[in-house]
Amino acid sequence: MITFAFLGTKPTNNDMVDVILGLQWGDEGKGKIVDTLAKDYDIVARFQGGPNAGHTLVIEGTKYVLHTIPSGIFRQEIINIVGNGVVIDPIVFVEELDKLDRIGLDYHSRLLLSNKVHLILPTHRMLDAAKEAAKGSEKIGSTLRGIGPSYMDKTGRNGLRLGDILQANFEQRYKSLKRKHLDLLELYPQIQFDLADEEQKWFAALERIKKLSFIDAEYFLNAQLRKGKRILAEGAQGSMLDIDFGTYPYVTSSNTITAGVCNGLGIAPKHIGEVIGVAKAYTTRVGSGPFPTELFDEAGAEMARVGHEFGATTGRPRRCGWIDMVQLRYTTMLNGVTQIALTKIDVLNGFGQIKSSEHYLVNGQLSDQMPYDLCQYEVAPKYLDHPGWNQSLEKITSTDGLPDKALQYINYIQEQLQVRISMISTGPARESIIIA
Ligand code: GDP
Ligand code: IMO
Ligand code: MG
Repeated sequence: MITFAFLGTKPTNNDMVDVILGLQWGDEGKGKIVDTLAKDYDIVARFQGGPNAGHTLVIEGTKYVLHTIPSGIFRQEIINIVGNGVVIDPIVFVEELDKLDRIGLDYHSRLLLSNKVHLILPTHRMLDAAKEAAKGSEKIGSTLRGIGPSYMDKTGRNGLRLGDILQANFEQRYKSLKRKHLDLLELYPQIQFDLADEEQKWFAALERIKKLSFIDAEYFLNAQLRKGKRILAEGAQGSMLDIDFGTYPYVTSSNTITAGVCNGLGIAPKHIGEVIGVAKAYTTRVGSGPFPTELFDEAGAEMARVGHEFGATTGRPRRCGWIDMVQLRYTTMLNGVTQIALTKIDVLNGFGQIKSSEHYLVNGQLSDQMPYDLCQYEVAPKYLDHPGWNQSLEKITSTDGLPDKALQYINYIQEQLQVRISMISTGPARESIIIA
């Protein structure tokens, strides 16, 4: 009989920020895992990304998708922080607030924004669209939310921050940045965009946002840590979309890995506690870029169908493939992962055989490393076969109840990554989770 192999010890610490982040190309199910764990925390904080993210939570049968607001918002006792590493589009942000208002959720005293959050201007979205159009077949497949251009202005030291909207010279600074963008847009193909209309919505949205509290989040969070409050940092995107370590240039524009928590919230490395890496039991990617284990056959189509693999932000179909151990070993290393939440294992219920890419053949040579640029090499996965369990996992609430073949697959992943799997998600709902 196979039993669940328990690796390591359970966490016990304080004055630490625990982290939840994606170990693949995004959409691993981070929102659900944050929502599951949030009840054990006082604060949930987003540290990077922006409205390119789409985090889905299913609570009492109703589905909610959050883009910029942290996934702790649905638990009344939790404070939610949007950290300095995040970029916000006021229009999208207010649409999110409207949805919370419609369900009567009171967030006013529980949603705090860092003064240092950078703003996505309407012209950032225009630039995103124009740049992608200019790239033609080389396009990144951006969500077109203005992410790249706004982070460019941040690192280029041109950006506007949330705290700036309270300053007397804000309108003049806005006009000056807009002018720069319009000049730049002359270089690109023309795109359809009603700037006047978007600007009007943008300024109206800022008036709504002004009613929320802007804080120096780094002081706030460190003070809360000293008081013994428990903080959970919520990542967006996935480690393979990290600006430094992802499949560059097919990446997003922020550091999505654990290091991003330090500069995206103002938390020192010594305060990083548990790092919970979220990984799907298979792999998906949305947008362009290399994906070694991508499937173009019926198995891939089956994953997409059963897993409802459509982007939570753009609705685009997600590309699907087998789990990739070379890739997961890489991101486990980069993040210092201490626990894994394995999600969507139920999607594999009907598969007679499951594969995992244990090694790569890089230009014909066996390799266990992620090449520096996946586009420059011929990368072929070397697969290992695993028998499927052909059984529903619904209503299974402990690892003891899992079929042997599912346990074999789970134990194999633990052994490959040398990290314990502490959660196994068996469906979209809050309750569909096995805590190991
Ligand atoms: P995120 O961006 O990482 O938060 O993930 P998304 O919300 O974009 O995509 C994950 C999708 O899978 C959502 O539709 C979730 O409701 C759903 N989901 C999460 N966990 C599970 C699971 O264990 N099984 C199944 N079948 N669906 C899940
Ligand atoms: P969550 O948080 C999956 C992808 C885009 C594109 C690339 C760059 O829901 O996991 P950008 O808009 O950042 O310029 O797009 O990154 N991407 C995501 N893919 N999940 C996400 O977020 C993503 N955010 C960006 O599809 O390929
Ligand atoms: Mg998503």
